[in-house]
Amino acid sequence: MTSTAASPRRQPSDARAVDTEAVAGQGQHWGDTFEANPDMYGTDPSESGLAAAEAFAAAGHGSVLELGAGQGRDTLFLARQGVHVTALDFAPGTVETLTSKAQAAGLADMVSATRHDIRQPLPLPDASIDASYSHMLFCMAFTTGELERLAGELHRVVRPGGLVVYTARTTADAHYGAGIPRGDDMFENGGFIVHFFDRALVERLATGFEILDVTDFTEGALPRRLARVTMRVLPQRSVPPATGVADELL
Ligand SMILES: C[S@@+](CC[C@H](N)C(=O)[O-])C[C@H]1O[C@@H](n2cnc3c(N)ncnc32)[C@H](O)[C@@H]1O
Repeated sequence: MTSTAASPRRQPSDARAVDTEAVAGQGQHWGDTFEANPDMYGTDPSESGLAAAEAFAAAGHGSVLELGAGQGRDTLFLARQGVHVTALDFAPGTVETLTSKAQAAGLADMVSATRHDIRQPLPLPDASIDASYSHMLFCMAFTTGELERLAGELHRVVRPGGLVVYTARTTADAHYGAGIPRGDDMFENGGFIVHFFDRALVERLATGFEILDVTDFTEGALPRRLARVTMRVLPQRSVPPATGVADELL
């Protein structure tokens, strides 16, 4: 990830100014957009889906929690590789789409889709799944605090040693700083709110994980500029020791 220098600590920028009303409308906006655009991102797996499938196969992972599965381009691909996918998304219609696509592909036994808002605790028991995958979910309209809670939840549900692969748009993206500012490094373009990641945020979310790899890549016509982060769950998730200095001052 070359867009910004590494830094161990990061103060969420303008966190108190988050536009909660705008953020609340995102689920319906995604649902409406998907309804108007079947296969919005195409039916082929994404580059990150291919990379994640390779990493999961090498690690011998047979079950994956996919966050923000959308219309299922990567869900179906992972299922075809023999991985059982528990797919979550909060947009209306996504569960029906994912379920009917899995049935049509003869993969009904390999995909379990549930409507779920990722800001809520993950609907899985502790250490109950081999790995997690998400493409462009972490960079949705989540505050830094919500992302930290999500990382904690992934640490809880993925077995120690399991892989967590996620992608996020970065501060190198053309939409970073463009459109309507929504607070905490989020900007709205075309009705979609995106939280743009820098290296410090990647490191902040890695508490309890070992970062194995961060790869920059592009996708789409803009092009979107993204990082794919691969982390391994460590047995313990200890919160960094207090420094005696307020976080805001670091
Ligand atoms: C950029 S799309 C990516 C979809 C899919 N991963 C793909 O690459 O084709 C982001 C997805 O995250 C979902 N999403 C956004 N915020 C969410 C939330 N709070 N809880 C669950 N899903 C969310 C959206 O509904 C959408 O399907």
